[in-house]
Amino acid sequence: MSESRSALATIADAARLLAPCRRLLVLSGAGLSADAGVPTFRCEGGLWNEYDVEKLASPEGFAKNPELVWEWYRERRLRVAEAKPHSGQRALALLQEHFPGGTVLMATTNEDDLLERSGISQVIHLHGSLFDTACSGHCGWRSRDGDDNSLSMVPCPRCGAPTRPGSVWYGEPLPAGILQAITHFDPDGCLLVGSSCIVQPVACIPSEMAMAKLAVVEVNREETPFSPIASCSLRGTAKELLPGLVDLLTSRTVREQLHRGT
Ligand code: APR
Repeated sequence: MSESRSALATIADAARLLAPCRRLLVLSGAGLSADAGVPTFRCEGGLWNEYDVEKLASPEGFAKNPELVWEWYRERRLRVAEAKPHSGQRALALLQEHFPGGTVLMATTNEDDLLERSGISQVIHLHGSLFDTACSGHCGWRSRDGDDNSLSMVPCPRCGAPTRPGSVWYGEPLPAGILQAITHFDPDGCLLVGSSCIVQPVACIPSEMAMAKLAVVEVNREETPFSPIASCSLRGTAKELLPGLVDLLTSRTVREQLHRGT
């Protein structure tokens, strides 16, 4: 039994588990952006409680009513543009920069750009980016839209089909090769932040790591289906827990204690 599975873990437990990692994967979901005011999908007041998924985040929904889907995306883009990265997201930028003796790969199912705006250099957006606009005719055209959404609802510049939001929708595959980027990184530990752990194929990443007895620390306000198999599960918000955890992970003291075995 891992040291903390019996009781709710502390950030010191989490730091002891993650500090030895050489290739740390930070995998985040909507709960990480929630503290910046960006609504989650399934919590109270979440997007899926207000909107009908099929109508908005699916190719069929877009084909039926492209104007409604675009209106929803424009509203989400505006909301994210007005949001500011919180201290937990900024702490992750420090972790990526100062994790002693190891490298950190940031991957998220979030479509917002708050991690980039926190100063994180490379973020893998597993479910695409809110600000990308793509061709609905699958000709492969895709571009980052401007703040004025000028690329939305216009014919694709390459083939003339209508343009659509560049996110990954229900029933669609993840962008080619994106999961391989994580496999190639070959993480030996994972910090899982604000994810409900129910949407595949991303939800199987932390589970497979836990099955392989790698350290997987969860930060979540609530219990999730993953919590029972996490190496440790920190209960609380990303904003309140991440700065302290990153402080420990980037401090040499923890690393020296580890080497001394104390
Ligand atoms: N701090 C930490 N965790 C939080 C916070 C917070 N402040 N607020 C909410 N959470 C947790 C919730 O307890 C929940 O486990 O974040 C999770 C949010 O779950 P969802 O709303 O389901 O979001 P997510 O897991 O990112 O959804 C995955 O589903 O619909 C698709 O494409 C969509 O990428 C999304 C995917």
